[in-house]
Amino acid sequence: MSSQDKLIIFDTTLRDGEQSPGASMTRDEKVRIAKALERMRVDVIEAGFPIASPGDFAAVQAVARAVSDSTVCGLARALDKDIDRAGEALKPAVSGRIHTFIATSPIHMKMKLRMEPQQVIEQAVRAVKRARQYTDNVEFSPEDAGRSETDFLCRVLEAVIEAGANTVNIPDTVGYNLPHQFGELIRTLIERVPNSDKAVFSVHCHNDLGLAVGNSLSAVLNGARQVECTINGLGERAGNAALEEVVMSVQTRQDIFPCKTDLDTTRIMTCSRLVSGITGFAVQPNKAIVGANAFAHESGIHQDGVLKSRETYEIMRAQDVGWAANRIVLGKHSGRNAFRTRLKDLGIEFDSEEELNNAFSRFKDLADKKHEIFDEDLQALVTESGQESGNEWLKLVALKVCSETGETPHADVTLWLDGEEQQVSCSGSGPVDASFKAIEALVNSGTELELYSVNNITSGTDSQGEVTVRLNLDGRIVNGQGADTDIVIASAKAYINAVNKIIQPESRAHPQLGDV
Ligand code: KIV
Ligand code: ZN
Repeated sequence: MSSQDKLIIFDTTLRDGEQSPGASMTRDEKVRIAKALERMRVDVIEAGFPIASPGDFAAVQAVARAVSDSTVCGLARALDKDIDRAGEALKPAVSGRIHTFIATSPIHMKMKLRMEPQQVIEQAVRAVKRARQYTDNVEFSPEDAGRSETDFLCRVLEAVIEAGANTVNIPDTVGYNLPHQFGELIRTLIERVPNSDKAVFSVHCHNDLGLAVGNSLSAVLNGARQVECTINGLGERAGNAALEEVVMSVQTRQDIFPCKTDLDTTRIMTCSRLVSGITGFAVQPNKAIVGANAFAHESGIHQDGVLKSRETYEIMRAQDVGWAANRIVLGKHSGRNAFRTRLKDLGIEFDSEEELNNAFSRFKDLADKKHEIFDEDLQALVTESGQESGNEWLKLVALKVCSETGETPHADVTLWLDGEEQQVSCSGSGPVDASFKAIEALVNSGTELELYSVNNITSGTDSQGEVTVRLNLDGRIVNGQGADTDIVIASAKAYINAVNKIIQPESRAHPQLGDV
């Protein structure tokens, strides 16, 4: 494919996606998502903002070590210390990119940076030159480009390309643009920046008006050849352009788009479920491509039409994005090999035999309770085992709840805590409330419960419930997950998982706001 025919997919789920309030991910979770993105053949994975915290630095470094087929990118403000930190974190990468940015809109320059436009250009150029000392793959973003003056943007872009930026990314940071306007901006920039042929033009659109995908596609029609996006459209405020929507639009409307992506779209559902499981951000049922109803036909007329000819009401094939009908894949008698092979098909591989054994023994426990194990069950099971590092401070040993009409529910909880088993009983407004109170009575974490949600993984009353618990400790937010056919046990597991994470001190700063 020539560079004009190829649309580069830059995934920023691990960086901008993580900026969604509450969507924090641990280093290991980031590595698992990065590996899934790599398998889907995403071109560039933005793994984090290394200066933000030691945890972010370690996550970018870990992703750089784990991924070899995609380029791994680290974000840096246009400051020496940020760029040095990003350069350091990306050292292990087979292919690494530094993405540096500074704001260019009048409001950001005046109110936030308190800098004159000429100073902004100088700082941008200096940043790109410094980044080039670490890698020849440098991306520059004029933050809030969507509200910047076009003449000024042209000057900035010409200067950074001259300084060595080979990708220039135009962010609609606050999601203000309309598709025709944003497309026009991209076309104008490509036409007017004298050295525009020396760089790939990229776009990064936010979804404040629900236009992130529309704006990104309009930009592609006007010459952009990289789109920055996230799985399930996760991201700051209303989110970023959803990767699955951008990619499937381009693939489905090849009569309109003059370019293609390299993605293996059959991996989309696996990535979507993985990200939603880890972050606890459920996908709305009517979400395009990955929502539970995206390929469901409810009305009789539609069902009749689809049965006669699928194309009457479907513009894409469900299997092309990785939807397999709820197929029974494994059961009680399936062996380790069948388990490993099925997970491999789902894009899940284990780093060690120990991890495989751990997941397999959970699978056997589940198969005892639930006879038909679906792909979704396997994914939840792996999410759960992947979250356990083996040296948890806190573990659930036993849980007994009593809930009876007319009686106050109570829970007896036994935990492994501080190297010994400890037991407590508490009552509450329901069995989940009583269980959480009992766990808190023993661990005294001082956290606030921000979110409690239960989703059924498959259909039927024997389905596993997948619970997400979000805890806040002095502004630090973590998500815990648990899955079980018993939702009270799933809830207790999720709570314990979140407590285990919150005791690892890793605070994180925000790239667009404040000082680091
Ligand atoms: O939205 C934005 O402007 C960003 C930049 C850092 C690219 O996320
Ligand atoms: Zn952004």
